[in-house]
Amino acid sequence: MIPRNTVDKIIETAHVEEVVGEFITLKKRGANLLGLCPFHGEKTPSFTVSPVKGIYKCFGCGKAGNSVNFVMDHLQLSYPEALKWLAKKYNIEVVEREITPEEREQQTERASMLIVMQYAQRYFTETMMSTDEGKSIGLGYFKERSLRDDIIQKFQLGYSLEERNAFTIAAVKGGYMPKYLAKTGMSILSNRYVEGKEITQSDLFDRYAGRVMFPIQDDGGRVVAFGGRTLSSDKKTAKYINSPETEIYNKSKILYGLWLGKKAIQDKDSCYLVEGYMDVIAMHQAGIENVVASSGTSLTVDQIKSIHRFTKNIVVLYDGDEAGQKASNRAIPLLLEEGMNVKLLQFPANDDPDSYSRKVTIQEFQDYIENNVTDFLYFKAKKLKNETKNDPIKRAGVIKDIVENIAVIPDNIIRSIYVKECSHIMEMEESVLQQEVNKIRRKTQSKGTSGTSTYSEQAPTAPPENFELIETETQEKENFLFDSEERELLRIMLTHGKALITIDAEDEDDTSHELEITLGEFVLFELWRDEIGFENPIHQTVLDEYVKEVSNQRLPDIQYFSASQNPLVSSFVINNIISNYELSSKWAHFGVHVNQEINNIKKGTQHLLYSLKEKKLHSYISEKQELLKTAKDEEIEAIQKEIMHLTQLKSRVNKLLGRIIVK
Ligand code: CTP
Ligand code: MN
Repeated sequence: MIPRNTVDKIIETAHVEEVVGEFITLKKRGANLLGLCPFHGEKTPSFTVSPVKGIYKCFGCGKAGNSVNFVMDHLQLSYPEALKWLAKKYNIEVVEREITPEEREQQTERASMLIVMQYAQRYFTETMMSTDEGKSIGLGYFKERSLRDDIIQKFQLGYSLEERNAFTIAAVKGGYMPKYLAKTGMSILSNRYVEGKEITQSDLFDRYAGRVMFPIQDDGGRVVAFGGRTLSSDKKTAKYINSPETEIYNKSKILYGLWLGKKAIQDKDSCYLVEGYMDVIAMHQAGIENVVASSGTSLTVDQIKSIHRFTKNIVVLYDGDEAGQKASNRAIPLLLEEGMNVKLLQFPANDDPDSYSRKVTIQEFQDYIENNVTDFLYFKAKKLKNETKNDPIKRAGVIKDIVENIAVIPDNIIRSIYVKECSHIMEMEESVLQQEVNKIRRKTQSKGTSGTSTYSEQAPTAPPENFELIETETQEKENFLFDSEERELLRIMLTHGKALITIDAEDEDDTSHELEITLGEFVLFELWRDEIGFENPIHQTVLDEYVKEVSNQRLPDIQYFSASQNPLVSSFVINNIISNYELSSKWAHFGVHVNQEINNIKKGTQHLLYSLKEKKLHSYISEKQELLKTAKDEEIEAIQKEIMHLTQLKSRVNKLLGRIIVK
């Protein structure tokens, strides 16, 4: 139990912008700070932190809270665990009373596993530093690879004795439960163990006997796994053994070196990506700390996202050999697709960053890196141009390859810069290259495989300058174009969603008949038919929740939303809908009166829907007209066609609007 005054002190000291800033790069935006939300995948920032209010809020996914909530959510800790994590960070002493056996019992499984990992890390380091075997074999190995003492300490390296159950015995003696030694994968169950029986020490032996140990930390600095390297050069022994995937170790999300490197990554606004544990360590020893390794797996999208939270700029370092080249070729399209700026750095044949760093001085190593970084696409274009000079068929293949890489870049401007530059390097028409890129983009979009074309990704989620957590009056002042229509629609859905209306439905044979549906379903259908989402993120969040309920055969109402699990939703509904829903002037304006007959509600709703559609079309048309001003000759025709199409739609909607006579 943490005493109340300590809790107060922790919350007072742990400024939200500082705590959040540890896990994502925040940029100033008015009185607030803005970054990429760590809780949902996004490429444009909608995660806002207000230092004055001491809170954060994501306008994309709705997560909100203070610094303790952030640590709880992000590191998946309980409330007291999060407080302790913060206390450690700010050197606040926590005098905790002894926990009772019952409390220990209640400790979550995750917490118990993390404690085992912390113990294991200390045990392996201790073993390496103060046993004869550890000193001569483990420490000897790292010394032979020229690691300095400070680096060995920084990476908490260690050694696991050759004796096949030395660690297991020590851990059980130290009071750690055999169950968790098995769960974390630190010990392996022998095949004599009978399923269902309680696990005891004699059922277990060490996973890493006779290996040097590299602890793997999550971005909160907690040891969640180990990599263990064999010291034997026998080709039949696996060079590395890594922890299995566990409740605390999600391989596809963890990056080796991120915890120790994230500050430098933020400061330098750039991150080096290398292949192995030793490469990360060697770079640190050479004074370069903004470096991570995917270690053991090929780079995943989640890993890229966690780099992206700190920087957009990545330099892929790879060995001169073919395997290195292949690995980097796999990673690059993923990196481009996530909106990263990708640079490459190739090491001389047969060298990786670690081996090369041992051949040259620190200064030479740093210079090499500085002078050999090239932009990925320019590098590729140049190389391929030279290689395919006199071979038109090969050249076509190469162009296709480059085009595929350019096509996945999400940012329009960056994409068009690449098209320009690459066409220049490869001495070909820019428009031809552009056409090829467009072709691929159309294909992937129509297949829906781009992964970026969901509505919520396209919808602008930029938060307003001054957000409020509870008082949502500020919503009125936001510059969302369709704010009032969206809110009115939500108001109708929440207050009259259950009302039954009659519509004309068309059968397959084109005959129409009357159909009775709820007003809520009617609105959803209308929105869905024209692929309309809400522009204001909080409106969209409410709409999403509505859709989710409807798909579970429930029509949610005001009561449902005012008790929503999501505090943003409940406060929005309470502030913006309940308070106005009796008889607001807007209701009268749209012709919908609370006690009026159903028919008018239907008309009012239709009127509102068509007004929204018309307004949206109007703004699309203006956008296109703007575009026309700066368009290139060859684009003009297509844009004009689009404008015409939109104008026709608009006049159809206008007609429909005119037919609705609202009393
Ligand atoms: N790796 C692994 N299992 C293996 C081999 C490799 O998990 N059997 C992972 C490790 O994370 C390793 C990385 O892939 O760090 C790169 O492998 P490699 O280049 O073979 O090892 P190095 O890191 O270069 O290790 P060393 O320099 O000690 O040989
Ligand atoms: Mn190596």
